[in-house]
Order: sequence, then structure tokens, then C-alpha cells
Amino acid sequence: MSITVVDHLTEGKAVRVDNFTSPMAPVLQISDLTIAAVSDKGKVLNELVQGIDLSVRPGEMLGLVGESGSGKSVTATAVLDLLPKSLQVTAGNIYLSGIHLGSLSEKEKRRLRGKEIAYMFQNYQGSFTPIVKIGKQLVETIRSHEQVSFKEAKEIALEWLQRVKLPAKRAFNSYPFQLSGGQLQRASLAAALMMKPSLIIADEPTTALDVLTGERVLDLLVDLQKETNCAVFLISHDLTHVLKRTDRMAVMYGGRIIETGPTESVRHNPQHPYTQLLLQARPLLTGRIPEKLTTIPGEPGAVAGQGCPFALRCPSRIEECAQAPVMKPMGEDHSAACHILTAGGEPDNEDAAGGQTNQQVVFC
Ligand SMILES: Nc1ncnc2c1ncn2[C@@H]1O[C@H](COP(=O)(O)OP(=O)(O)O)[C@@H](O)[C@H]1O
Ligand code: SF4
Ligand SMILES: [Mg+2]
Repeated sequence: MSITVVDHLTEGKAVRVDNFTSPMAPVLQISDLTIAAVSDKGKVLNELVQGIDLSVRPGEMLGLVGESGSGKSVTATAVLDLLPKSLQVTAGNIYLSGIHLGSLSEKEKRRLRGKEIAYMFQNYQGSFTPIVKIGKQLVETIRSHEQVSFKEAKEIALEWLQRVKLPAKRAFNSYPFQLSGGQLQRASLAAALMMKPSLIIADEPTTALDVLTGERVLDLLVDLQKETNCAVFLISHDLTHVLKRTDRMAVMYGGRIIETGPTESVRHNPQHPYTQLLLQARPLLTGRIPEKLTTIPGEPGAVAGQGCPFALRCPSRIEECAQAPVMKPMGEDHSAACHILTAGGEPDNEDAAGGQTNQQVVFC
């Protein structure tokens, strides 16, 4: 099967995108996306994310990890086409199952959100209106997307509340404030999954929960993803969550993707100096307490104004780093953007690497 998409850059002419013809074609494809803060008059003030390329395939969980402020939520919000007026997509394209989001009307986008793309946010309270019972909200959502009776919608809602391991009838008849944080995030998972979306965007879904409750919500997300075969875009500042649960991952720094690949490949053979330091800064679960954990030098979030965004903190920095590095293939489906790397994974200059790059690192 092939899908014809309308690309707004071709002024409404339908173009066939061969990329979307295979069953493993991406559910979400982000190409060369740049988002900028703009003034009231539309003048670009500064670019918050630049040249983002990401894809999520059917049934796959893609993790996006990066420090606070690196641009993860801005990217996710652009996919949902919910950027505030002060932010604008200034370049690039977003496709959902081959459909160019920029080509859709507001009505079509609204239909897409909630039906084709569902989302879970850190602020789970915001997923529900506080003064309306959970059940009523779920039923209304179902009926706004599907032609079903109240009774049928109620059955679907109860089934999903049960599938996320909530006491279904009690949750259905509760106001949001009557559920705990973990229960409410489970209810928002039910709300996300019950429309059988092709993609769930989960932006820091467990950050506001205690560790154990957060782990359980993520385990549930993984189990139900396997059952429903939907794709998940899991965004987190917590490397452990991403390493533990995702199939592929991308590492973001200063608004750019600096490394991407199969999670196992990035875990065992990180290429970019930032990814290596990030992995080394994690405590190992070996039972042995290290004398000293590696810390990433410099101020968290310090981004170089030009060239490589990590240059202000990078122990392997060389003169060329004043120019922005491009992504280079490092292995199967694995790439990284750094001047001291050459395609295939060998550092250009062993001395410049300072012994940091291209190490085999084994983490639990
Ligand atoms: N509405 C906005 N106007 C201007 N800058 C913003 C806005 N929202 C976010 N930013 C900036 O964009 C950058 C990325 O933010 P964000 O995507 O929220 O980071 P993350 O989710 O990785 O923590 C930050 O520097 C943040 O201050
Ligand atoms: S070596 Fe240069 S390009 Fe590579 S991460 Fe360090 S500063 Fe960036
Ligand atoms: Mg965020």
C-alpha cells in the first residue's frame, strides 16, 4: 500500500512519499524541524530547537532524553500542533502515518489529536477537567470521536479503566481530586489508549509521581503498548527510564539531536562525548558502590552560541568545534554529531578524544 500525502511546500499538489509505503513506515516522522521564539510581529528572536530528525515506527517505543531546557517538550508540542503563539515552526516537516500535519485544517488536526495521537503529560491533573467525573469525561471523549451510544461508550471506558488496573466503577464515578496521582495518571493512560491511537506521546509522564508509582505506570504503558501495538514517543530527562524501556533512543542537547540509535547500541557503544558522560554519570547496579561518580563538567544547560552546542562543557573539544558538527553514521541505525568521530565510529583524533570517545561501556 502507498499513501499519497499533501505537502504544503508544493502548494497543495499531492506528492507521493515512497517512505510511507512499507508496513514498517514510520508512524511519526520529523524532518529537519526548527522551532523559534518569535516576537508579536513574527520576528525570529532565537531558535530553540534546530534540524530535528526523528522517526517512530509502528509498535516501537522511541525515547528522547536530554537535560531540562534542551527542547524536548517544545518538540513534542510541535508534533501536537499546540505551540503557543510565541513559538513557531520556522523550518522542517512533521508527518503522521504519511500525512503532512501542515496540510491539515484545524478541524482535521483536532480529530487527529485524541484519536490518532494521544498524549500523556507530567501534569496529569491537567488531563481532566476538575469538576467533571472521570467517567463522564471518558464517555464524552469516546462519543466525540465515534458513533456509539452512551451505554456502549460507558462499557469501553470501564473496560479501559480496568485494563489500567484501576477499580473501574469507583474510578468512573470519581472526580479527579478523589484519585491519587498514580491513579489519575493511570486514568489518563486509559484515556490515551481507549481511542486506539497509532501514537502516544508521553512527556515526562512520571516526573510528578513517586519513584515506585512512576515505575508501575511505565510498566503498564509498556505492557499495553505490546497488546495494542501502538507506537510510543517517551520523553524523559531520566536516562534510566529510557534505557530500561525503549527500543530506540535519541539524545538531545541544546536544542539538537546529538546521538540516535537502537537503545542497546547507544547503551553499550555510546559515541558522542555527552552521551558517554551521561552514561558514566549513572550509578551502576553492580552491588559495588563506586568511589566517585563521574560528573559532567560545566554548568548544566550551558549551550554554546554557535558551533557544537556541547562545546562549553566538552572535555574533547577541538578547534573545529566552533562549527556545528553534522550527524555521521556510526553503525546500523546509529548516528552521532561530533567532529572527533568519523563515519563508522572511529575517533578522527585519539588525542583529541581524551580517551573518552568510542569506549565500550557496559551499564546495567
Ligand atoms: N513559550 C515559550 N517562549 C519562549 N521560550 C520558550 C517557551 N517554551 C519553552 N521555551 C524555551 O525553550 C527551551 C526548551 O524548552 P523545553 O522544550 O520545555 O525543554 P525540556 O522539555 O527539554 O525541558 C527552553 O530554553 C525554554 O526556556
Ligand atoms: S568534540 Fe567538539 S563536536 Fe564533539 S562534542 Fe565535543 S565540542 Fe562537540
Ligand atoms: Mg519538558
